[in-house]
Amino acid sequence: MILPIYVYGQSVLRQDAEDITPDYPNLKQLVADMHETMDRADGVGLAAPQVGLPIRVVVVNLDCLSDDMPEFKGFRRTYINPHILEMGEEMVSMEEGCLSLPGIHESVKRPDKIHVTYLDEDMNAHDEWVEGYLARVMQHEFDHLDGTMFIDHLSSLRKQMIKGKLNNMLKGKARCAYKVKTVK
Ligand code: NI
Repeated sequence: MILPIYVYGQSVLRQDAEDITPDYPNLKQLVADMHETMDRADGVGLAAPQVGLPIRVVVVNLDCLSDDMPEFKGFRRTYINPHILEMGEEMVSMEEGCLSLPGIHESVKRPDKIHVTYLDEDMNAHDEWVEGYLARVMQHEFDHLDGTMFIDHLSSLRKQMIKGKLNNMLKGKARCAYKVKTVK
């Protein structure tokens, strides 16, 4: 089932999301719905707060980038209760967008690699260092679980430049091709 994507201004996007237990109700269905919702919106990642749930669940699909990055052929993952333990020291800039911030694309500086722990959809525990594009997507998505959006990383000048677009979202005007839930 396609879920509406919560847009900037929705308070759930600013909450600290909670770890879940394996018996979280209808988890398999939620994960399937999140993948379907992300795919329909042409996203590479989606965090549960973006569908209105303050829980630590993230889905990622990098297969759509595999023409340029063959290492991601068939790459589709679910991250349950992810936590970043350490970050690399080298910082890299890359343009980011977000399904909860339609129409905004800005360059964001982040560490090039991260040490993460998480459970996969079968509840197997993972503990690994991740780098490159996946580390970028993970940091963006896991930020959502701490109530952070990528615009929070921008300079005050860049924040000023996107203020109009943000105000429009607060007024319920979000121009995008997928189903959204705005505050108004
Ligand atoms: Ni996002």
